[in-house]
Amino acid sequence: MTKRKILITGGAGFIGSHVVRLFVNKYPDYTVVNLDKLTYAGNLENLRDIEKKPNYHFEKGDILDVEFLFEVFKKYDIDGVIHLAAESHVDRSLHNPTEFAETNILGTLNLLRAAQASWTNGYEGKVFYHISTDEVYGSADHGGFFTETTPIDPRSPYSASKASSDHFVSAFHNSFKLPTRISRCSNNYGPFHFPEKLIPLMINNILNNKPLPVYGKGENIRDWLFVEDHARAIDSIFHFGKTGEVYNIGGNNEWRNIDLVNFLCHTMDKKLGREEGTSAKLITYVKDRLGHDLRYAIDASKLTAETGWRPQVTFEEGLEKTVDWYLANEGWLKNVTSGDYLKYYTKMYQA
Ligand code: NAD
Ligand code: TYD
Repeated sequence: MTKRKILITGGAGFIGSHVVRLFVNKYPDYTVVNLDKLTYAGNLENLRDIEKKPNYHFEKGDILDVEFLFEVFKKYDIDGVIHLAAESHVDRSLHNPTEFAETNILGTLNLLRAAQASWTNGYEGKVFYHISTDEVYGSADHGGFFTETTPIDPRSPYSASKASSDHFVSAFHNSFKLPTRISRCSNNYGPFHFPEKLIPLMINNILNNKPLPVYGKGENIRDWLFVEDHARAIDSIFHFGKTGEVYNIGGNNEWRNIDLVNFLCHTMDKKLGREEGTSAKLITYVKDRLGHDLRYAIDASKLTAETGWRPQVTFEEGLEKTVDWYLANEGWLKNVTSGDYLKYYTKMYQA
């Protein structure tokens, strides 16, 4: 097997940490380099179990620093990139779209330039894999599923920045034959998820008996996938995907937000030994998110047909594992929530 030298950006974040863990454990002969700026969302605690492995390396730095990227490519003789570093939260993008354009668009462009400039001996055996989101397709309001040929129609500053980065990746493939691939995944959940996103925020608030803010009427629909299933899909696409292609990844698991929150409340009541219905009393309807996409729904059949990947964890199992993890790691939750990380939203969303 080729001994690959892979650069994973954003490896200290939620999904990135699961991808780093999978690659470090599954491929002991690979060199795995995690490059991360450690923003509020990046946390080396997420990687404690693998940080001492000889095939793991950490480089703290910013994808906006192109000289630094050149140095890292050279230092490790990088031949594969899995690019996850990004600003990832829609609500934050409404508050500070410029930061999203900088990190997500310019940062991706820098990484493309670093790969292009570093791979001077040809692209044989090289892979530049960009992790994108189903949100670039817009909102599937009228039924049906997003396929890889659904037109791009981003509607939030976050998804606009991700769509733009996707276009740059495609442009580098088209213009310079850079061996790119892109995947677009639905909503992930699982351990190490920063508690500003729906599921971990609700878990944290239930634990602290705080209101559970449901935006609008709670009728928006998301397709949820356990994060380890996403990491396995990334492994499949990195090794077996085709150059220049786009792959959708999804859980075939659509939930209305209010139904999901109720199910989570029920699960938490059981786990905490509370009377059924206790947590659900905390549900509070608040002002809707601006431009709130109604529905995301992914058709991942291309990926399944080409690589055999399919989700392995049911939502019931995955949610139970997730709740168990947060209950066993309340210290982690306390650490990451110790700053004023919710300062943006308290004003935006009020009951
Ligand atoms: P996250 O916010 O948890 O982690 C992002 C990571 O990127 C953090 O470790 C952060 O420190 C790092 N980072 C941010 N700016 C950086 C910079 N300028 N330089 C270097 N590192 C930087 O995000 P996540 O939820 O793990 O998402 C990872 C990727 O997957 C993103 O590209 C996101 O768009 C995509 N995605 C996420 C989901 C989801 O449900 N969370 C679904 C589909 C796709
Ligand atoms: P989120 O986890 O932010 O993911 P995304 O917006 O990228 O899909 O939100 C998931 C859904 O939950 C979305 O429809 C917005 C809604 N939501 C709430 O109702 N309350 C909340 O406190 C949060 C964070 C999200």
